[in-house]
Amino acid sequence: MLKLPIESSSDLVAVRNAVGKLAEEIGFRNAQQVKIITAVSEIVRNVLNYAGTGGCIARRTSRGIRIEVWDSGPGIPVETIQAIETGSYVSKTGMGKGISGSKELMDSLSILSSPGNTQIFMEMNL
Ligand SMILES: Nc1ncnc2c1ncn2[C@@H]1O[C@H](COP(=O)(O)OP(=O)(O)O)[C@@H](O)[C@H]1O
Ligand SMILES: [Mg+2]
Repeated sequence: MLKLPIESSSDLVAVRNAVGKLAEEIGFRNAQQVKIITAVSEIVRNVLNYAGTGGCIARRTSRGIRIEVWDSGPGIPVETIQAIETGSYVSKTGMGKGISGSKELMDSLSILSSPGNTQIFMEMNL
């Protein structure tokens, strides 16, 4: 199991490297590793951009990998979560893939967010 802090952009690099290494150890092929790293990068970047600090836990499951990213920031607006769930959300910056893109890359992505507590759970199966 990996547990990593998210406090600065150097932690983004650390999370990318550590999650990529874990995914390889679990047996994910390169293309899947890239998807996992891309998805987790977007979610970690959101923590840095919108919450400031948080953390990431990644672990092996019986079927693959499970990654949880959390923060104690203001929370994701309800209307944004709804739009992401219905697939109608378009990232404001359009720069990255955003949460909806991450959801497409992973087998599952779920959001639990309220002011002071945001958790994003992602899973990818082998
Ligand atoms: N950890 C977070 N805390 C608070 N708000 C968030 C967080 N992550 C995302 N958001 C909100 O959800 C929106 C959608 O995020 P995302 O899909 O990554 O698109 P983008 O970051 O390009 O706007 C953000 O614009 C922001 O308002
Ligand atoms: Mg984003």
